[in-house]
Amino acid sequence: MKKEKSIFVCSECGYQSIKLLGKCPNCGKWNTFIEEFYTTDLLRKKEITQPQKLKEIEIEETPRIKTEIGEFDRVLGGGIVNKSYILVAGEPGVGKSTLLLSVCGNLVKNGYKVLYISGEESPNQIKMRSKRLGIDSEDIYILTNPEINSIKNGLEKIKPDFVIVDSIQTVYNPEIPTIPGSVTQVRENANFFMKYTKNNKCATFLVGHITKEGVVAGPKILEHIVDAVIYFEGDVRTNLRILRSIKNRFGSTNEIGVFSMEENGLVEIPDASMLFIQDIEKNVAGRTIFPTIEGTRTILVEIEGLVTPTYYGIPKRTVSGLDYNRVSLIIAVLEKKMRFNFNTYDVYVNVGGGIKVNEVGSDLAVAISCISSLKDTPPIKKCVLIGEIGLTGEIRGVENINLRLKECERLGIEKAIIPDRNKNDVSVKNIEIIPVKFLYEAVNISLNL
Ligand code: TYD
Ligand code: MG
Repeated sequence: MKKEKSIFVCSECGYQSIKLLGKCPNCGKWNTFIEEFYTTDLLRKKEITQPQKLKEIEIEETPRIKTEIGEFDRVLGGGIVNKSYILVAGEPGVGKSTLLLSVCGNLVKNGYKVLYISGEESPNQIKMRSKRLGIDSEDIYILTNPEINSIKNGLEKIKPDFVIVDSIQTVYNPEIPTIPGSVTQVRENANFFMKYTKNNKCATFLVGHITKEGVVAGPKILEHIVDAVIYFEGDVRTNLRILRSIKNRFGSTNEIGVFSMEENGLVEIPDASMLFIQDIEKNVAGRTIFPTIEGTRTILVEIEGLVTPTYYGIPKRTVSGLDYNRVSLIIAVLEKKMRFNFNTYDVYVNVGGGIKVNEVGSDLAVAISCISSLKDTPPIKKCVLIGEIGLTGEIRGVENINLRLKECERLGIEKAIIPDRNKNDVSVKNIEIIPVKFLYEAVNISLNL
């Protein structure tokens, strides 16, 4: 195949340029451009498909196949849909290979044919891992040569029901004159697996490594090609792992799966409600409890605030597990509406246990944590705080108030400060409900000011 022309591609975001650039105009990263060669064969294949009327299309039955790993099935929306193409992305060492090998073990046990393509481990390493995971049915086909012709041969011979590609960054097509993991290699090989998946009765999982910044290494492009994108998150220094779908053509995208990485593989944690709470009995200055909704589940999280005097003139704000801009906004409202002065203080806000909270309903808990730390006064005991803060200092309603409160009730929470708007929806009996309309009411009640 002869070279036609070369193009420069940003290895972070896939932005293309005909000239070599120092800084990417799309993602702003420096020195990320690499030269790639385009060939007519690859880009201009003729494939003519005739237009169809919607009524001529027959609905194919798509029963879901359970992996029997409940937390994984939940994130997928109830199991694997036939002919689906799924990306499992995560940082190195988080446990992607471990998870997918366990999935393979269960699928094979139920009579499915599985081909596990690994460009990262030797057959011996995979064998040792399967022993460690206690996979008893070892009829999994292993292919450790990620060269595309070897893969095509393997697929033809075995005709698997499930294909695992671990990882897409190692798959290599010798006809493309760039190295494995380059944008063109990843894109072309991912397209090959997409076509294979759609044309054959199989489902394919791609493993994708992500960089420190949290983007799937190089090719963000992968996210557009696949049917579902599942992120496997967690601090590799701890055992806790969270599986989260950020795109799912076959289900909801807000379900999470919770696991613990143990000596013999991943252990599911179906009851994660209290996992992120240290001690519900004690109340400490700077800490509040917020019941967040993750899909169909409520998880109690601790919002921690630390407010300390600034030493360098410019006050610092450090936020983890929450949206930085949202926290800045809450601090601005506290200053303007409540006359608290944060401009000579550094403010740190954190969600305990490394979980991310992505809803504005946590605003009130963030605000009270910050004031509680500033005043060095603990909030009232066994009390949750729920509510979005408006720019004028009013407390806005949240969704799923009952779902949240029912779980709080089960876990022994005694009081709940909630938006006044939501008070008529509440049906729990064993929690004292304190409805508030404005921020100052919540501050006075929760901190006894
Ligand atoms: P791995 O699945 O190889 O991660 P990834 O494919 O995402 O790079 O998991 C690697 C880590 O998990 C490694 O540090 C060892 C640990 N581990 C366990 O703690 N228990 C186990 O049973 C296994 C197989 C791995
Ligand atoms: Mg791996």
